[in-house]
Amino acid sequence: MSDYYFNIKTKRPEEIYQNVFEYFKDDQIIKYSTSKSMMKIQEKITLRALEIIKIQPKDLILDAGSGCGFSSIVLRELGFNVVSLDIIRHLLNYYQLPEMNPVLADICLTPFRDETFGAIISISALQWIYSDSNMEKDLNNLIISFHRILKPNGKVIFQFYPKTNLIMEKIGSTFKKKDFFEGNFIIDNIKSPKKRKIFLFLKKKIQN
Ligand SMILES: C[S@@+](CC[C@H](N)C(=O)[O-])C[C@H]1O[C@@H](n2cnc3c(N)ncnc32)[C@H](O)[C@@H]1O
Repeated sequence: MSDYYFNIKTKRPEEIYQNVFEYFKDDQIIKYSTSKSMMKIQEKITLRALEIIKIQPKDLILDAGSGCGFSSIVLRELGFNVVSLDIIRHLLNYYQLPEMNPVLADICLTPFRDETFGAIISISALQWIYSDSNMEKDLNNLIISFHRILKPNGKVIFQFYPKTNLIMEKIGSTFKKKDFFEGNFIIDNIKSPKKRKIFLFLKKKIQN
């Protein structure tokens, strides 16, 4: 991993805006939710995440950071039972999401009973939770929260956009330190900064 490099010329929203509420408001909500290219990208990443995580349709899945539901709708069309969760209320009003009873909450403090989900899928949201080394508390809360709501042998897959190699490694080491999960990064198109997709695939560890 030492020769792995990042070459991102433009700043990403999580670097520019103080928090997710500052970014996803007014016109930006409409722009994101009605973008056909965004829909296609999210669908494609979701299908790739499913290939990696290999879950059964009977598993209840949490779509953590569901936004307007591009990933959730793909999951539902494939026959999965999915609960969509996002922190931005107005994003939850699009497409079929309202009839799917989405949950308005923070993925770091999820309001579900222990051992509810067989799997958690989180597409393009983790960079909002950890984009800077002072955000370790939020990431730790997310780890505790995901561990608590997953069934034994439950799985998690994140696809996300870390700003640097260091940030990516910090995320990995924070998960490792907590010792609630085991797993690895999976990187598609590693040599192409434009096409590169970074996944973190984890399985819940059975505690002794
Ligand atoms: C790029 S969007 C991806 C949305 C989704 N995967 C889709 O298919 O449209 C990232 C989402 O993460 C959500 N998000 C960021 N921080 C969050 C948090 N702490 N709790 C819940 N959702 C969060 C944002 O509100 C946003 O909807």
